[in-house]
Amino acid sequence: MSDLYNVAVVGATGAVGEEMLKILNERNFPIKELKLLASKRSKGKKIKFKDKEYTVEETTKDSFKGIDIALFSAGASRSRELAPYAVEAGAVVIDNSSAFRMDQDVPLVVPEVNSEDIFKHKGIIANPNCTTIIMLMAIKPLYDYAKVKRIIVSTYQAASGAGAQAMEELEKQAAAWAKNEELPIEKFPYQLLFNVIPQVDIFLDNDYTKEEMKMVNETRKMLHDDNILISATCVRLPVFRAHSEAVTVELEKDITKEKAVELIDKFPGVKVVDDIEQGIYPMPLFASNKDDCEVGRIREDLNGKNWLSFWIVGDQIRKGAALNAVQIAEKIIENN
Ligand code: A2P
Repeated sequence: MSDLYNVAVVGATGAVGEEMLKILNERNFPIKELKLLASKRSKGKKIKFKDKEYTVEETTKDSFKGIDIALFSAGASRSRELAPYAVEAGAVVIDNSSAFRMDQDVPLVVPEVNSEDIFKHKGIIANPNCTTIIMLMAIKPLYDYAKVKRIIVSTYQAASGAGAQAMEELEKQAAAWAKNEELPIEKFPYQLLFNVIPQVDIFLDNDYTKEEMKMVNETRKMLHDDNILISATCVRLPVFRAHSEAVTVELEKDITKEKAVELIDKFPGVKVVDDIEQGIYPMPLFASNKDDCEVGRIREDLNGKNWLSFWIVGDQIRKGAALNAVQIAEKIIENN
């Protein structure tokens, strides 16, 4: 690899793909050639990046010749099918889907949490599930201080997690409701507008959803701790693009609110937004389009001195997906 890199974005027309382009631009990622890939449907579509117009190409097994870094965000089946061709062509794949996350040979990485794992890759590095990334941004500093033993988390997830068309569906539902028309329902099992759906992804044999088990398994993999106890309830809300999570943790030693604030605030990528006297706490409306996750409602939990509760909000498309992927790419080139 040289100082400038040939980069492919697979799924460039999707919500995360579009954000990846924005972030590559904002962070001035050293790009030599940029290749924008999507499905056959988008072939020929024009997308502007910096001051140049690019034509979207259909993704095929031959799309990756000369590519150094391939950012995939086109769903797990496309990743399974096409990422091996990108690796074979010599690219490092950073995959936003769930396809390879739990593979032993594939590092699963949040750079602030376990960047040391990146360099164990054999061609593919997986970007974790968005809710897991956001939660770990506050869990990791607490874990390093007093080993988190147990996590109980409820999520309040935005429509963006289900992709660009799902965000559009929420908007169309609002427009239809205002006109007293029938609401379109395709991407979610029920109407999302004015509703709360306690199901994200499919149900598994243990009655948890796939999303909830991702939070369990991916957290254990990234913290290298198979004993950490986690119980998650994942819920979808009519919010456009930032996920919120109510988290309660049990630690191995006692913790004060002041200590928790200090630990979380000095961790990179998170900010404490917590002044209950002034009515200040993180909300998706204000955390959207920001790189930092925001933590508030930090309190000593009534369960005991070694328990803590807090509320975290993070932009699902940014830190929950596109930003995290680009940060992994930056670590790779830094180390090159
Ligand atoms: P397209 O726009 O051509 O359908 P989102 O998660 O926001 O819905 O985005 C999904 C992304 O994955 C889009 O860029 C979409 O492209 C892309 N995609 C879907 N199917 C394929 C495919 N068969 N090959 C490559 N990209 C695909």
